Amino acid sequence: MRARILVVDDDRSMCELLSERLSANDFEVNTCQSALEALEALEEQDFDAVITDLNMDGPSGIEFCRRCKENRPNMPVILMTGFGDMGAAIGAIRAGASDFISKPIEFPILEHALERALGERHLREQVKRLKQSEVPRVESIGALIGTSRAMHVVYDLIRRVAATETTVLLSGESGTGKELVARALHELSGRSSARFVGINCAAVPGELLESELFGHTRGAFTDAKDGRVGLFEQASNGTLLLDEIGEMPLEMQPKLLRVLQERSVRPVGGNVSVPMTARIIAATNRDLEEEVEKRPSAKICSIDSTWSRSTSRPCAPAAMTSCSWPTTS
Ligand SMILES: Nc1ncnc2c1ncn2[C@@H]1O[C@H](COP(=O)(O)OP(=O)(O)OP(=O)(O)O)[C@@H](O)[C@H]1O
Ligand SMILES: [Mg+2]
Repeated sequence: MRARILVVDDDRSMCELLSERLSANDFEVNTCQSALEALEALEEQDFDAVITDLNMDGPSGIEFCRRCKENRPNMPVILMTGFGDMGAAIGAIRAGASDFISKPIEFPILEHALERALGERHLREQVKRLKQSEVPRVESIGALIGTSRAMHVVYDLIRRVAATETTVLLSGESGTGKELVARALHELSGRSSARFVGINCAAVPGELLESELFGHTRGAFTDAKDGRVGLFEQASNGTLLLDEIGEMPLEMQPKLLRVLQERSVRPVGGNVSVPMTARIIAATNRDLEEEVEKRPSAKICSIDSTWSRSTSRPCAPAAMTSCSWPTTS
């Protein structure tokens, strides 16, 4: 379909000249000799682009451009200005003109400006169509609610990370929904049919944490009348949330490191390791990196590198950081 161009100039001969040249280049051209006449023409039919003179009786080309843009922001307007009139050129751009060309008109320049403007309009319309056909964005994931832009970033991140096997560290202030995010990661992952197991590291006394996580054999220690399966194993093929990991005693670091590196656990008192197939998600409301920086002695480098390896995956989200445990003492 031929592009339809509206030419506006109070100089009739200019209108005729432009009409002739543009029609020869396969454009369909209408002409008007004032801005008011042109605004009426725009009410009656659509044009793909407007070329207008700057100085005309009645509203100027700049005023006309501004009014065109109010109702038809995607329709390009090209202004014709006197040679070297920089002030007018700046005014034209501020009024929303796509381009300005100097008089006397050089036709190759005008045609080039027109083609560029029409190309841009085409792109803008395509973007608008694509936006309209976009699948509505999800308004929630799991038990998380919220429709703000920030929450959509979180949802997007959850979806991307859920599809991976990577270890995750969730950090954020208390009450910001870290546990909900951990559950959502589990639900959206290929692990959702297996168990989600959580432990609050702050709530378990240090001396019990090891057997809680690793399990123990019968008779492993004085009170171990029966054997017990640890949380790593209970979460097999599922997800284990180590909540409040910043409160975990420092001595646990090397033990946890071994699990992450070897992907196997050995119950306390046992001598056989079993495969560890859970995905580990850790959560903390403390700024671990800052605390480690303040107290370098709290950092065991090899653990740091284990976490770093998980973050180096191509789809690693910003929420995953390399980390180690600060001392709690
Ligand atoms: N985006 C959200 N949508 C729905 N509920 C939320 C959201 N954010 C927080 N909550 C609610 O706020 C409360 C705290 O959430 P959650 O326990 O997951 O926070 P947390 O980050 O783990 O906090 P803490 O560091 O204190 O453990 C819960 O009742 C949770 O359901
Ligand atoms: Mg929590």
